[in-house]
Amino acid sequence: MPIIAPSLLAADFLHLQDECDMLNKSEADWFHLDVMDGRFVPNISFGLPVIEQIRKATKKVLDVHLMILEPEKYAQAFKNAGADRLSVHIEVCNHLNRNIEQIKSLGMKAGVAINPHTPVSLLEDILYDIDTVLMMTVNPGFGGQKFIPHSLEKIRQLRKMIDERGLQVHISIDGGVTFENAPSIIAAGADVLVAGSLIFKSPDPVAAIHQLKEIG
Ligand code: DX5
Ligand code: ZN
Repeated sequence: MPIIAPSLLAADFLHLQDECDMLNKSEADWFHLDVMDGRFVPNISFGLPVIEQIRKATKKVLDVHLMILEPEKYAQAFKNAGADRLSVHIEVCNHLNRNIEQIKSLGMKAGVAINPHTPVSLLEDILYDIDTVLMMTVNPGFGGQKFIPHSLEKIRQLRKMIDERGLQVHISIDGGVTFENAPSIIAAGADVLVAGSLIFKSPDPVAAIHQLKEIG
């Protein structure tokens, strides 16, 4: 069964406690938290104080997706705020291995996020050191965009790279996940589904999470 990671970017921020309660009683596995700086991506979302509050509202895993420049400056702060998993974008890291080691030394699981234009072949050497590849299947910055179809081929390539090396690395898919494309995403080799609008804009988010959990 896939790991389901609802993206709280699409949540109702005036009722965050209710949204957390809903996720707590659902089959959601990870809370996916999108942090944007208005520099790496053309949008600004939320940051440390919000994550600190969410930490108090759930025991589930906090999966923090940093869409920011210089993530190494903030890894400790996100750990302190309650992050269990931290992903940084390959496109902003000149010293990716150092960034990953920093995250792990702080006691978090480390992920590498890649934009739609970034080939999976760039992950060849870092794959040995990470827990997750967070593959963007839309251009990062906004929820509610359309899944880029060519991403399916990238998922297949990455699954092959991981399996050929005998590694245990999660492939997490972020952006434009729908009930229609989720089965092909899983069939292509992904094992984590991030979903924002699909879940939070659904009339029954708990049922939507259940439906995703049943795929595969
Ligand atoms: C986009 C974020 C995603 C976003 C996904 O930059 O990384 O996590 O919330 O939203 P949907 O599922 O609506 O495409
Ligand atoms: Zn995300």
